[in-house]
Amino acid sequence: MSANRPAAVVVLAAGEGTRMKSATPKVLHDICGRSLVGHVLAASGELEPENLVVVVGHAREQVTAHLAEVAPDVRTAVQAEQNGTGHAVRMGLEELGGSVDGTVVVVCGDTPLLTGETLRRLSATHSADGNAVTVLTAEVPDATGYGRIVRDAASGAVTAIVEHKDASEEQRAVREINSGVFAFDGALLADALKRVRTDNSQGEEYLTDVLGILREAGHGVGASVAGDHREIAGINNRVQLSQARRILNDRLLTAAMLSGVTVVDPATTWVDVTVTFEQDVVVHPGTQLHGATHLAEGCEVGPNARLTDTRVGAGARVDNTVASGAEVGPEATVGPYAYLRPGTRLGRRGKIGTYVETKNASIGEGTKVPHLSYVGDATIGEFSNIGAASVFVNYDGQDKHHTTVGSHCRTGSDNMFVAPVTVGDGAYTAAGSVITKDVPPGSLAVARGQQRNIEDWVARKRPGSAAARAAEEAARESAGQD
Ligand code: UD1
Ligand code: CA
Repeated sequence: MSANRPAAVVVLAAGEGTRMKSATPKVLHDICGRSLVGHVLAASGELEPENLVVVVGHAREQVTAHLAEVAPDVRTAVQAEQNGTGHAVRMGLEELGGSVDGTVVVVCGDTPLLTGETLRRLSATHSADGNAVTVLTAEVPDATGYGRIVRDAASGAVTAIVEHKDASEEQRAVREINSGVFAFDGALLADALKRVRTDNSQGEEYLTDVLGILREAGHGVGASVAGDHREIAGINNRVQLSQARRILNDRLLTAAMLSGVTVVDPATTWVDVTVTFEQDVVVHPGTQLHGATHLAEGCEVGPNARLTDTRVGAGARVDNTVASGAEVGPEATVGPYAYLRPGTRLGRRGKIGTYVETKNASIGEGTKVPHLSYVGDATIGEFSNIGAASVFVNYDGQDKHHTTVGSHCRTGSDNMFVAPVTVGDGAYTAAGSVITKDVPPGSLAVARGQQRNIEDWVARKRPGSAAARAAEEAARESAGQD
């Protein structure tokens, strides 16, 4: 498509990320359902580069395994020792044969808020100005730790990037910083990297030195200033991780709201980048939406719902519920206080009520499981009602078995369906039944002990007790009535 399509994007992800204080490599930490490096790859992918290379080093087995899972088309280059960002890019280019013709974009693996749009603008500026290098910069409130952009006082042209540790007092006062994102001419980059020295405070090969080298050689050096400095923030510790998550979450909720979703309380609503909404959805406070969750038109979710990979049908209502891998039909109701486990499918206008847990259960149109029940490994037909406090006894201690309940059934309260067992269409079961045998369609199954009343037991065994007195009083009253 675009004439700006880069020859390569190189993502730097070899650093350790010590300040995360974590057994997990920094770039694998998650915000909004995607790893930090996953976000960077998603933004980079929008440039449609011919090659996408991730430079890995620290914990590279873990990082490479993650990349194979989330971005199988990405190539990896190993930087065995972290000798600086310049060295890292050199390793990345080696993976591509040492040099590439065309534009090479370099990004860091720990900047999850960077957007494809900003990268496209950088790339476009780079091409339009015919630069050898264009750096993405930003004005930040606190530039501590960042490389500073040094500009010529008269012309305003970028002349160099000076690392914080190597900067003079005057340079440290500059608030325009290097984001760590660049567009380079590939051949000139490869050539300049050979000339980068290590005589700096960290004894590293700085990628930033390439800028000065190219400028001194008479090539065009430019900058593209990011509109929003928060976009280029790198994550170094878990405080910044939470701040980035908040910003990204706000972005996702803003997009949802502008597309017609009511988010009652954005401060307590959390969504993954993969969640999708239709119009007129209402999301109540305390709701977390993860993975491939989809909320269809006019459904209402929350308060306090945690839905993962769950589809909620149009006009459905899901209240105070935890669900994973579930499908809720149109106009169905779930909760409050329901737990829908994988393989739950609730039909149109069905109901899964309060303190109900379901798993691998297909519950047909208009069927209700209203109270205090467990429905596991079951198929229930249409317009049936499952009595309160019922258990689908699916596990014999060794294997799981299936229960089938037909359509238009009325099962009593406190039933155990000992699987495998089938209740036919239109059948009833008595309260308190333990159903171990199939129930033919239209039958009433009664499977419980007969009631026996032992008269005057209290008078004989508990004489003088409050119970005995109450019984005597009741006897007198009923005698008086006669
Ligand atoms: C770097 C820049 C600085 C910029 C800042 C933006 C240099 C010398 N400095 O500083 O100008 O303001 O980023 O956040 O480039 N990495 C490797 N291999 C290495 C070293 C680093 O892959 O040998 C990766 C890291 O994993 C990270 C990125 O490069 O993703 C940046 O490295 P980091 O050490 O964080 O650089 P800064 O000191 O922050
Ligand atoms: Ca950094």
